Amino acid sequence: MQALLKQIHQERGLSFSAYKPSFLERRFAARMRARDCADYAAYGQLLRREPEEYTQLLNALTINLTHFFRDASTFQAIEERILPALLHTRAAERRLRIWSAGCATGEEPYSIAILLAERLGPALAHWQLDILATDVEPATLEQARAGTYNDFSFKNVAPRYQPWVERYFTPAPQRQLDHKIRAMVSFQHHDLAQDPLPNNLDLILCRNVLIYFDRQQQHRLYQAFHSALLPEGFLILGKTEMLPLSWGQHFAAFDMREHIYTRVAHTLQQSPSPIAGRSL
Ligand SMILES: C[S@@+](CC[C@H](N)C(=O)[O-])C[C@H]1O[C@@H](n2cnc3c(N)ncnc32)[C@H](O)[C@@H]1O
Repeated sequence: MQALLKQIHQERGLSFSAYKPSFLERRFAARMRARDCADYAAYGQLLRREPEEYTQLLNALTINLTHFFRDASTFQAIEERILPALLHTRAAERRLRIWSAGCATGEEPYSIAILLAERLGPALAHWQLDILATDVEPATLEQARAGTYNDFSFKNVAPRYQPWVERYFTPAPQRQLDHKIRAMVSFQHHDLAQDPLPNNLDLILCRNVLIYFDRQQQHRLYQAFHSALLPEGFLILGKTEMLPLSWGQHFAAFDMREHIYTRVAHTLQQSPSPIAGRSL
């Protein structure tokens, strides 16, 4: 598998060495079964012969399942506690910088944009809101930019958000998102395993992404998130992802149940990591 990972890195510049071996094994096994390859070497040869297999492999390695307002209780905390706090602390400069890391097809950052549009109402025009949304998989970013969604993306939308679905989208089956909300989010390609991070952020959502990474890379990213956040900035992880207790000095639990943390003000000892503190 190491040789295959090296080949993928050489041919495509993609680094999956940060991912958990058990996760990679399962995903490669699925593609190898599908393409009738007996071992990693045979699959490596297939990738050379048929580079279009890379699309399938990337799909398998980056599960991009997501929904609008996924985890209603988390969105309720964002709506009722985090955004009001941020809008209050940034009231003087009227500027917010938000990053959705591993945004898949865009439902998460667009949900945040809708919350902000609803909360600010006509005052929206007086704020500079930078919502950056990134993912490693180009195909998901293309879908996100198109802003058209089928029923699957609205699975499990809580009743409290249903009226906003009606307000901001054209009717089913192919729902198109309002162009004003689309204009609030900018999508960029970004690989959390190797690219520099944006900085001066008020809020980072990195939900259901770190599960793919091994412990060392997770710690590297926690440190990078800490450097990327402004004092009093927030970090939100997925429902299955918890910041290890050892990070307690650097992040305070804002809402333990929702895995929402705030940055503790002091500066971390900078590591030699090339990503800390640099902009996209
Ligand atoms: C399950 S989705 C999460 C989507 C959204 N954050 C949510 O919670 O609904 C995971 C996303 O992480 C992305 N991803 C995986 N590895 C990544 C990496 N190294 N850098 C950036 N994004 C990555 C995948 O492409 C996928 O779109």
